[in-house]
Amino acid sequence: MMAHGQVEGFLSHPPPLKGTVLFLGAADTGKTFLSRQIADRLLREGKTVCIVDLDVGQQSLALPATIAMRSLSSGDDPFSPSFERMIFIGALSPMPRMERIVEGAIRLLSYARSDAVLVDTTGFVQGEDARRFKLKKIEAIRPDVIIAIERGEELEHILSRLEGLEVFTLRPSPKVRRREREERQRLRRQKFEAYFAQEAMGDYTLNLRDVKLFPDAFPVRGERGRLIGLNGETTLALGILEAIEKDRIFFRSPIPSDKLKCVREIVLGDTGLLFEEGLSPM
Ligand SMILES: Nc1ncnc2c1ncn2[C@@H]1O[C@H](COP(=O)(O)OP(=O)(O)O)[C@@H](O)[C@H]1O
Ligand SMILES: [Mg+2]
Repeated sequence: MMAHGQVEGFLSHPPPLKGTVLFLGAADTGKTFLSRQIADRLLREGKTVCIVDLDVGQQSLALPATIAMRSLSSGDDPFSPSFERMIFIGALSPMPRMERIVEGAIRLLSYARSDAVLVDTTGFVQGEDARRFKLKKIEAIRPDVIIAIERGEELEHILSRLEGLEVFTLRPSPKVRRREREERQRLRRQKFEAYFAQEAMGDYTLNLRDVKLFPDAFPVRGERGRLIGLNGETTLALGILEAIEKDRIFFRSPIPSDKLKCVREIVLGDTGLLFEEGLSPM
């Protein structure tokens, strides 16, 4: 068992942090807020910071169902939502695509060149699947420090498995505001709506001999309106599937037309993802 400090105390007397810092905690424990405050402090000290957000449900930098990274230096606002690289996962919860998230996290971290890298994560911490997922992530990311925020003892089943890592265990700030499911969904819907309302939306066709599909099982009927990710090294843009016919895929996307030739893989999002967000068909 670890001693719990308060988030407030941690912030007013911050320990020196460098390297990769991973934030762990259930939903609405203040992970994102704390990571931005720490980023802000490091930036004021003249350090460079990279934020990596692996939360597919409440993604703070890019679009929902993606993971993303952003580098900051002096003068940048760590609270403003923007990203440098994103990777489309295609689900709003980590379970169905854990491997993609872990691989994607490694890819995003490979672009980080900062004094400190702050890794924000989903609030999925309960149960055996969550433990397996978190431990896999930690093993892959190899953070120098873990900042764990817990209300009770809900992280102990994960933390007790960690060896040789510096862990700060904190209690959530009393100022944390909890979000209802409807509010989370509304935030996601607004992001998708704004993204797909761009004027640069175009109709495109690609040949499936030139791009591979993930999952590679050939999709069957009812695919129109499915959310897709257009991948080069990372995700260049999201799109909405129109149809797959023989070896051609038709979709709409705000991808700049000169980027189309960089698309090497198309990731199909979970069926019904946009529909469940109240957004189909667009
Ligand atoms: N220390 C704090 N002081 C004031 N507001 C906070 C604090 N921590 C979190 N919040 C607010 O509570 C809400 C949830 O926090 P957030 O960081 O998004 O949680 P998480 O990332 O763990 O889901 C947000 O609206 C955030 O601004
Ligand atoms: Mg968060």
